[in-house]
Amino acid sequence: MIIARTVSQTRKAVKQARKRGKTIGLIPTMGALHKGHISLIKASLKETGFSAVSIFVNPLQFSPNEDFKKYPRKFSADEKLLKKTGVNLLFYPSVDTIYHPNHSVYVEETSLTNFLCGKSRPGHFKGVATVVAKLFNIIQPDIAFFGQKDYQQAQIIKRVTTGLNFPVKIKVMPIIREKDGIAMSSRNAYLNTQERKDALALYQSLKLAEKLAKNGCKDSGIIKRKVRTLIKAKKSARIDYVEITDIETLRPLKQIEDKALLGLAVFIGKTRLIDNTILRTKRHIR
Ligand code: PAJ
Repeated sequence: MIIARTVSQTRKAVKQARKRGKTIGLIPTMGALHKGHISLIKASLKETGFSAVSIFVNPLQFSPNEDFKKYPRKFSADEKLLKKTGVNLLFYPSVDTIYHPNHSVYVEETSLTNFLCGKSRPGHFKGVATVVAKLFNIIQPDIAFFGQKDYQQAQIIKRVTTGLNFPVKIKVMPIIREKDGIAMSSRNAYLNTQERKDALALYQSLKLAEKLAKNGCKDSGIIKRKVRTLIKAKKSARIDYVEITDIETLRPLKQIEDKALLGLAVFIGKTRLIDNTILRTKRHIR
């Protein structure tokens, strides 16, 4: 595995792989790798001939009151894990490599960003879109892999890719969960024992909503109320949002026709967790 810290080292390694006729896969991450990240890496190893992982805790996507400073950084454990997977390149840039002190160029998606996490984390997706566009230009992958765990992020990146004509295929992979159902996340490390138990409410509420929809409930209001009640029963939980939206536009839906996204953001203690599922309602028998 090549470890590249600069743009020129990275470009050189990718160029050589291309010369050998390899398809290039990219998995952008912020490190503190877990099985969710590994599932994206495995998909890339399967579908491409040269897999590049980036580890970069992107300051631009954290607002001043968020956890940029305390975000888990576990470079040596990550490096060891990546070596075992068979990844070809690890791009591990410094902040100065990505953001020149005179940096003044940003990428902004202006439609999907108005909903869900975009409302509660102003500037977040501008930071994500900017860094991902830069990674696409530095590595020039054929396929880039993202997780459904961050559903809105993946949709925004698809819009950025088509909007800026990046010749990159975006693949979105399923959410990987712990045995008890909680979605894997680097931020789970912040939870204490009681909070870890309370955090299960997110998954349980998704399952409840799936069941309600499957049994024919199409009223978003009813489903959201039941989800909120289940989550609120946990002492350490504070809801940021519970929203049911169109799966493409992310606009809130009052009524579910066929399919809808249920997105959750919940503070468990001080830790903000997100999760989601696609609700499918029973079709009318004509
Ligand atoms: P990070 O949170 O490290 O996640 C990197 C990728 O792993 C994202 O595409 C995310 O959706 C995916 N992922 C995280 N948890 C997952 C899970 N439980 N199952 C499946 N996939 C999962 O997302 C970011 O970093 C950053 O915003 C980034 C895109 C790297 C830009 O800075």
